Amino acid sequence: MDILMVGCGQMGGAMLNSWAGLEDMSFTIVDPAELKLPVGVWHVQSPATLGSKQFDMVIAAVKPQMMADVMPAFVPRLKPDGCLVSIAAGYSLASLEAIFPDHGIIRVMPNLPALIGRAATGLYASERANVAQRDALEILMEAIGQYVWVQSEDQLDRLTAVSGSGPGYVFQFIESFIDGARELGFSDKDARTLVVQTMLGAAEMAANTEAPISSLRESVTSKGGTTQAGLNQLRDHQALDQLMTNTTAAAYARARELR
Ligand SMILES: NC(=O)c1ccc[n+]([C@@H]2O[C@H](COP(=O)([O-])OP(=O)(O)OC[C@H]3O[C@@H](n4cnc5c(N)ncnc54)[C@H](OP(=O)(O)O)[C@@H]3O)[C@@H](O)[C@H]2O)c1
Repeated sequence: MDILMVGCGQMGGAMLNSWAGLEDMSFTIVDPAELKLPVGVWHVQSPATLGSKQFDMVIAAVKPQMMADVMPAFVPRLKPDGCLVSIAAGYSLASLEAIFPDHGIIRVMPNLPALIGRAATGLYASERANVAQRDALEILMEAIGQYVWVQSEDQLDRLTAVSGSGPGYVFQFIESFIDGARELGFSDKDARTLVVQTMLGAAEMAANTEAPISSLRESVTSKGGTTQAGLNQLRDHQALDQLMTNTTAAAYARARELR
């Protein structure tokens, strides 16, 4: 399968790193920047260099505000049965269909842990996108982490507020947790080691079981013990629950404004 990626910055590059070893997939990049790319990837700085070559899939990975200027030049580069994939946040299916009216289209909302093959990604397909196109995209998405299909653009906005913006929330939580460890007298380095490894270990345990997360919490909390004392603060008046509800609601509201 011949895949063309338009724009290969932070997110395009993160995904490409996980894709480069995939069998039966060849990647071509159009990006004006000087790039350090995996072996075997063809890089051109302008679409003119592509000649008349056509691709099975074109992935739009430029900034949303550049989409309308940049993408029309790539309509002839997509085979008649090819699929347009867009990772541009907030750039609607209607806007994409205005540029690619005759092709199947899939919108993708990845997050930055794609860099280490741990992305949580949302996928939304247009009615024209067929099973073969969805299957091909699933192969790419499995290589960068886990994915879920959603049934509307509104759901994609909601997903953006959870997993798209989620790494930012987690980094903030880690920062605040490290501050707490420093207050107890640990050095910056030790506080970071203890907190990051604790987050990683707990997240890994949660990922490896189907059991309710509350049962994991209960399994490390003895009545009257230290964890209970800490949790009493964290859960006081459901403060953390309320904070997370407000956090995701604010991000969803912003995603709707940007649509
Ligand atoms: N970063 C994230 O966490 C994230 C998460 C979800 C979705 N996304 C989406 O991913 C897309 C890319 O974001 P990003 O963070 O990867 O941005 P980025 O780092 O700025 O990457 C965009 C790339 O496109 C290149 N470019 C500029 N003009 C071009 C042209 N005419 N033709 C081809 N390539 C061109 C840029 O080159 P120059 O640097 O030389 O301008 C840059 O390498 C956005 O639409 C964003 O909404 C990003």
